[in-house]
Amino acid sequence: MRCIAFANLKGGCGKTTVCFNLVLGVLERRKPQNGKKYVYIEFDMGAGGGTVLWNPFFPLNSAPTLKDYLAGKAGLEDVIFLCDRYDEYGYFAFIPGGKIGPEDFGVLNSSHEAIDKLDALISFLEKKCELAFVDCPGEAGFSGLKDYYFFLLIADEVILVADPRIDSVKALDNLIDIALLYEIRVPFLVLNKFNVRSRRHREIMDYAVKKLGLRELGAKIVTIHADKKVEESWSLMPPEPTFYFDRKTSFSRDILRLADLVLGKPVKGRLKPSQKIGLLWKEVRKKLRVKWRKNRTREKYFDLDLDFGEIEGKYEVQ
Ligand SMILES: Nc1ncnc2c1ncn2[C@@H]1O[C@H](COP(=O)(O)OP(=O)(O)OP(=O)(O)O)[C@@H](O)[C@H]1O
Ligand SMILES: [Mg+2]
Repeated sequence: MRCIAFANLKGGCGKTTVCFNLVLGVLERRKPQNGKKYVYIEFDMGAGGGTVLWNPFFPLNSAPTLKDYLAGKAGLEDVIFLCDRYDEYGYFAFIPGGKIGPEDFGVLNSSHEAIDKLDALISFLEKKCELAFVDCPGEAGFSGLKDYYFFLLIADEVILVADPRIDSVKALDNLIDIALLYEIRVPFLVLNKFNVRSRRHREIMDYAVKKLGLRELGAKIVTIHADKKVEESWSLMPPEPTFYFDRKTSFSRDILRLADLVLGKPVKGRLKPSQKIGLLWKEVRKKLRVKWRKNRTREKYFDLDLDFGEIEGKYEVQ
């Protein structure tokens, strides 16, 4: 199974929109083989936007969700669902994030139990799914960057999503660091809500290439048009995925283009979350000296309230 996360700490840039619609786009291009599914994992446990697109009537407050699994209150079988909103999406499995509250903040920390749960989640999904799409939180998330240190452990690849604003691009800087530390590939930056006629947007694209070192990373920029149909589809009652709502929009065409690019980059081999956390320790010094990025300081990584000592003791550095 290949696991792709859609990430940016900045809210509202289109992670959920792109991630959800891309599952539909990929399904249109290629069905999973051998009875397997594509799974959408809603790691954003605050917004529930993915759940609304998948099943607007899902009882998020009472049904078992990913949050309950991580808190030890539900089994994996209980939190994976099929998509019954649309018949043609029978290959689409869904893990709803659930609504996390202040009492649940401890769920998202990098304790041994939580990392073991991520290992179990991946092993479970390996048997059932060919591709996993992870919808990550934005600033509505809880402890922000700290959460990303935890759940990005499950990803093989991160697709960065930004809208054409400086702060949206800048917010990706830290995520690239985490991806490098965990040896997670960064194949694409999706520049969403893009207007090719806007000089400002084109300038921001150039800025992103330089500021984030995309060439050195080997990451390609993929633009997705700003499209009124996207807003229209979200404002329906209940909302619909744009790709389903109108296949002929510029957005839907861009989604298919992204689907082709994603399918054209197969990934071989994967590390378990617990192996990735081990990598952090082996690689951290080396990676922080990486030449192509300036102004990196080691302190930056330790300026987080994570119990790294506990992790280091448990997970052998390879
Ligand atoms: N290509 C697009 N064109 C026009 N509007 C868009 C496009 N993509 C997303 N939007 C709009 O942006 C809004 C935010 O999108 P979305 O919820 O997917 O962002 P997000 O990054 O997942 O946010 P959060 O961080 O809160 O989870 C939506 O209401 C949607 O209508
Ligand atoms: Mg979202």
